[in-house]
Order: sequence, then C-alpha cells, then structure tokens
Amino acid sequence: MIPQSFITDLLNRVDIVDVVGRYVQLKKGGANYMGLCPFHNEKSPSFTVSPTKQFYHCFGCGAHGTAIGFLIEYSGMGFVDAVKDLSQSVGMIVPEADDRIPPAQRAAQQAQSLAMTDALNQACDFYRAQLRTAPAAVAYLKGRGLTGEVAARFGMGYAPSGWDSLRSVFNDYDALALVESGLVIDKVDEDGGNKKRYDRFRERIMFPIRNSKGQVIGFGGRVMDGGEPKYLNSPETPLFQKGLELYGLFEARQAIRDAGYVLVTEGYMDVVALAQLGFPQAVATLGTACTSTHVQKLLRQTDNVIFSFDGDKAGRRAARRALEACLPQVSDSKTIKFLFLPQEHDPDSYVREFGADAFAREIDEAIPLSQFLLREVTTEHDLDTPEGRAHVQFDAKPLLQAMAPSALRLQIVRGLANLTASTPAEIEGLFELSKPVSVARKAPPRQGRPEPVGLELQITRMLISHPTLSLTLDATATKAFESFGGEQAERLCQLVAQAQALGENATFAALSQGLKEGSSEFDRLISEIASEPESDIDQDRVWLTSAVRQIKMDVLKQELNQLFSSGLTPDQVSARYREITAQQDLLSREAANETPAKFA
Ligand code: UTP
Ligand code: MN
Repeated sequence: MIPQSFITDLLNRVDIVDVVGRYVQLKKGGANYMGLCPFHNEKSPSFTVSPTKQFYHCFGCGAHGTAIGFLIEYSGMGFVDAVKDLSQSVGMIVPEADDRIPPAQRAAQQAQSLAMTDALNQACDFYRAQLRTAPAAVAYLKGRGLTGEVAARFGMGYAPSGWDSLRSVFNDYDALALVESGLVIDKVDEDGGNKKRYDRFRERIMFPIRNSKGQVIGFGGRVMDGGEPKYLNSPETPLFQKGLELYGLFEARQAIRDAGYVLVTEGYMDVVALAQLGFPQAVATLGTACTSTHVQKLLRQTDNVIFSFDGDKAGRRAARRALEACLPQVSDSKTIKFLFLPQEHDPDSYVREFGADAFAREIDEAIPLSQFLLREVTTEHDLDTPEGRAHVQFDAKPLLQAMAPSALRLQIVRGLANLTASTPAEIEGLFELSKPVSVARKAPPRQGRPEPVGLELQITRMLISHPTLSLTLDATATKAFESFGGEQAERLCQLVAQAQALGENATFAALSQGLKEGSSEFDRLISEIASEPESDIDQDRVWLTSAVRQIKMDVLKQELNQLFSSGLTPDQVSARYREITAQQDLLSREAANETPAKFA
C-alpha cells in the first residue's frame, strides 16, 4: 500500500501538462491545454489538460483523470508502476509498504536519486557533444550504416579517451552521485589508502539507456576496435535494473503502436540499425536473459510480441529462457512468436545482407509460442519409443505447469497428447494442471448507492473540487450530515474523512485519485468537475459554511419539534431545550456576521 500522503505529494510535485505532453501534442487554449485525445479517434481536439486542476478530461469520450491515471490508461502500467514511474521523474522514492525509514533519511534518498538522474543527464549531453568532435567515432557509426538522424534519435554519443574527461562536466567530480550512478569507478589502493576515481566509459560509442519516460538511467558503451569487453554497461543502480528495462522501448513506443507488434532483439546495435532500416518497433534486452517482467512490460504496450534470436547456440539458449519467461504471461488474446535467424546472423547483419523485405518475411514466418514449445520438448527425444515419449512429457510438464489455464494451454496439451500417444485428459491429470477457473466468482459488485442530489450533491461537489474545505468541517458538522439519512450520510461522511486525511496539501487531483481507487461512485461527478471552469475556493468556502450551518439549524429544529414527545423526563427536556436554543442562538449570530449565501 502506497500511503495516500505520498500520492498527494507526488501529484503536487509532477505537472500533468508535462506528463501528458510527452505523449500528446498539446496547445495552450485559454486556461487549459488542448490536444487530440489519445483514447479515441478524433480529428479536432476535444482533449483538455488543466494545469490548475492537474487533471485531464476529454469532452469527446469522457476519459479523465490525474497524471497517474493518464499513465495507467495510456501506457497500460499498473497503479504502482505508474506511481513509481512518476516518482522517479521528480526524484521521489516510493516508500515501501512496511517502511521504517525516517522522513529525513527518505528526503536524503530522494535528493540522491535526483542527483543521480541529473548526473546521468549531464553526462549524456556531454557524450553527445563529444561525438560531433570525434571523427573516428562518426566514421565508425557511418561505417555501420547509421545516419546522424538515427544516432540523434537514440541520443548516441562518444566517451573520449582520457581517465577523467567527466571532470570537465561536473563542478564536483568527487560527488557521490557520480559513483552511484555508475559514471565513475573508485579504485582503492592495495593498502586501502588513496582512493582514485576515474571515468567508467572511455573511448567508447555511447548508447544511453532510457526508462519509459525518456530519462537516462544508464549507458552501454561499445569499443570501436576489437577491445574487450565489446560492450561495457552501467552497473545496476537504484535507477537501473537490467531485468526490468528494455533498450529502445521509449524510442519505439509509437512505432510499436503503429506496427501492432514489438520486435525483441538481443543487442543495442540491432535496435538502432533496425530503426535505421525501417523497423523502429524493435527493442533489446540488455545483455541479460529475458525476464517475466520484460514480457509483462511488453505486453502492456502491445498484444503481439515477436522475439528475434541470433542463429547461434547462445541464441537458442536465450530463446528457451524467453519462452520460460513468457509462459506465466500467456493469455488467449496475446500472441507471442519466435524468429530464428540463420547461423552467424543477428537482425542487424541479416537486414544488411538480405534487405528489409527478407527480414519482413522472416517476421511473417516467425513460429508461434505453442509450436516452439512443442519443438523444444520433442527435438531431443525419440517419439517412436515409449521412453522417448515419456521423456517428452517429463520435459513438457514444468512448462505447461507454468501456464495459467487458457485455451492456448489446452491447444498445447492436445498437441502434446497427439505427439506422445496420450489423451489431453491423461496429460492434464498427469501434469496436475489446475482446472480452468471459469467457475471462479468475481466479488459481487457493490450495491450502487443512489446518486447524490440537492444539498448533498452540492456539498459533495465542493468537497471534491476543493478538498481542503473539509478541514473547516468539525464533528458537529459531520454529525449534522447524518440528517441526510442512511447511505447518503455515510457517503458524505466517508468523503469528508477521506478529504480530511489528505490534510492541507489536498487537491482535487489527489482526492479524485484516491476516490477512484475506492470505487467508481464519484466518477461522474469528478468528470463533471474536470470539465467545468474551476470554481472559486473562497466563494465555495462561504457557501459551504452557511450550508453546513443551515443543516445544523434544521437538525436542531427537528429535534426541538420532537423534544416533548421524546420520552425524556421533564428535567431532561428542559435541560436539552436550553442547550438546543443556545446552539440556535449561536448559529444565528454567526450567520448574521456573514454574507448570506443562496442554496439550491
Ligand atoms: P553481441 O555480442 O551479439 O553484440 O551482444 P551485437 O549486439 O551484435 O553488437 P555489434 O553488432 O557487435 O555491435 C549482444 C548484446 O549483449 C550485450 C549487449 O547488450 C549487446 O548488445 N553484451 C555483449 C554485453 O553487455 N557485453 C559484451 O561484452 C557483449
Ligand atoms: Mn551485431
């Protein structure tokens, strides 16, 4: 659970115009920004982003939400990932669930992550600038068929020779952020004494690795001659984890949408070269095996993933690992395919030798996961002997067990049954495959409460628009709301509590985000508020104060009316009578001191 206070801080820190602006071209129009809605097809813009409300709203399709909501809808990320992603962009660190880190330390961590991002950015700019003044590096890239345009698209650069070129970039070459971000290496003398610091990347072509927001989180650097290692990579840092990141994903985003699939390769150069040669929908794992997280990330972008593997032994091994990473993510609406290039070829060399059309044909002929799986388990065994067939089943068992029940799993089971002279039921029984969960029941939908109306509606609307107004409500106010009765009262009191919990930093965006997580009950109202001009908080405050007073008065009046038939003793009645009239007096005096407001 990420604390709501963190979400509030985060939404106060990010600017939704920036966030949306990364994906949608926005133009200023009055108080808002306008653009073409990314959530439905349109020719003229009806998508608005309000910098004051920190909210987006489409008049065409009704899509609306906060910066977090936008990321979730647009990129398909989950809530936690979206929060993490945004946090990173503003240098905040998402607190862990059972977080015991004191606030001061957390602030220090956040400052540190900000410093790292900053250092990586500066280094990236430096390497890019260096490329322009390094004829040998430019010649190398040209020799590999790259234009300056593609190099620029990927932010490619050059780390010059020299042990401490970055010294000229940073005011403080000894800063902690430099070593933590992996830009420099600290070498300690044998005797543990003098620490010597030097640049990690020297005389290398630089490939910046960006996260899904386009921020530089690490680098890969290639030698230009036969030196070792061929590629040097940034170490794992809090910002950069190879098992989570894919090279080129940020750059490929739009192309993946356009092409309808993503092509997963094994190398930096493959991605860049493919983009150059007409396949901008390519990404690469970072010299590590493909993980389930990688697959998950890709399937959020598109329903079709095609892996391309080099035609060597290492390529086959990598394909097997990728298959295993895919199995838990397989579902019937997704297609995963595998393509194997001829020996001695990777996508880059293949396209250069045989051309883009030939490569496009390879893509067309990629084999689907089901087929690859069956091929994997059968190649090494003799299907003509019972032992061989049993061995095939033995090998297939963990793979099928890794899959969730799905129509595709059933198809593979059938295929396997055919190949091994068994029946699907025998295989399912033998493998102890969990039964399809078609009978699993969903949580019953919450009984819809009637929509708020009248005074309740007005108050609700105001509290959502300006949640800090909830801080003006005391316990007697919420008690008075009970006069709305049952569900309405409950709803309003919950809203007040939720708004109050956000404290003084509460905003429309933060509260709506919180409400959205709870239920969709307030969705329509949030959408309406998002689409209207912002109401004036001071006017609303005056209105709310007098509305609440009115409700309190009504409650008192009602109690007074029933007091004599309430069954209290005469003494109790007269005591309560005095209390009620005193409160009425107080409220009337308060009212007299304020400008009256009109109620609906
Ligand atoms: P390859 O050796 O296949 O290189 O490594 P490549 O991608 O074809 O590169 P070029 O065409 O020779 O320039 C594939 C990937 O493995 C990682 C890198 O991510 C590389 O892109 N790798 C390879 C390393 O991290 N370090 C190495 O020394 C070699
Ligand atoms: Mn290559």
